[in-house]
Amino acid sequence: TARDITFVTCTAPVNIAVIKYWGKRDNDLILPVNSSLSVTLHQDQLKSTTTVACSAHFKEDRIWLNGKEENINQPRLQSCLKEIRRLVRKRRSDGDTSTDVLSLSHKVHICSENNFPTAAGLASSAAGYACLVYTLSRLLGVEGELSAIARQGSGSACRSMYGGFVQWHMGMQADGKDSVAEQVEPESHWPELRILILVVSAERKPVGSTAGMQTSVETSSLLKHRAQAVVSTRMDEMILAIRQRDFSTFGELTMRDSNQFHAICLDTYPPIFYLNDVSRRIISLVHRYNHHYRETRVAYTFDAGPNAVIYTLQQHVSEFVQVVTHFFPPETNGGEFLKGLPVGSVSLS
Ligand code: PMV
Repeated sequence: TARDITFVTCTAPVNIAVIKYWGKRDNDLILPVNSSLSVTLHQDQLKSTTTVACSAHFKEDRIWLNGKEENINQPRLQSCLKEIRRLVRKRRSDGDTSTDVLSLSHKVHICSENNFPTAAGLASSAAGYACLVYTLSRLLGVEGELSAIARQGSGSACRSMYGGFVQWHMGMQADGKDSVAEQVEPESHWPELRILILVVSAERKPVGSTAGMQTSVETSSLLKHRAQAVVSTRMDEMILAIRQRDFSTFGELTMRDSNQFHAICLDTYPPIFYLNDVSRRIISLVHRYNHHYRETRVAYTFDAGPNAVIYTLQQHVSEFVQVVTHFFPPETNGGEFLKGLPVGSVSLS
């Protein structure tokens, strides 16, 4: 009966990297070849919502994504379930009585939903795994550092465990214990910062990040150069720009880093194309706009898909949106725009 079911519901927002993660040095533990840094969106924007229920009556662990039952035996999902249960057992043996051992022996049913297109290069797996790990932790009563567990679901998920500006330290250890996320500054640090999402296409990406990264690690010399000689200095500069709320440096570093990531995709053999013609027109538009003001007011970044994420400051949002709608008129794209919100969405397809 319903009485015997315990459940918890949580939400986790998407994060958008300004220094990209691309390439693993350990595929099983999901350890990256370089550190990365992202901004986590607001709770009320693009997010995953997950309910985890447990009951003595459940015969097996099960999962539903956006209403459709999926295979619970996917290795990454199993890693997260196993690791969180292991953590509960460990805390319990360390004498922590807040952990719920009863639920530990029970099977779980997981229901997860995104309020945005899955696998369109909009970081759906990041929000999804962060949400799953956090919800499980609440259900089982375990607290503390959970980003190393979320990381084993999807690398970028570890950064969604924190709000604001978040760094994922690549770590040095082979066991991955030091490959964790850390908040650099809270969201309140830079209240004028805004993110706009220009939806170029809501379709599934042709090459997923796992397969793409693997080929890049195997074939791209630019990826090696980036990991060895670029990211560490760029990371220091980026953190300083954030601390000083220096948008023009933040924006330039963000665009350079996105461009280097997509250059690595082109340097991969066979090459991977995530950007399309609309993406490239957006890149040109941003540079023309900034050039007009002789100042970096707007910055783009692209993940493993053609959709543009725009970083800018509150005072430039409405003008930039006007410019975008001028060059991509709504009549031709049937787009919707969420005005006044920290995250806007302009459909350009
Ligand atoms: O966590 P994954 O496997 O979905 O990889 C994410 C990779 C990028 O989104 C392209 C970059 C990043 O750092 O988020």
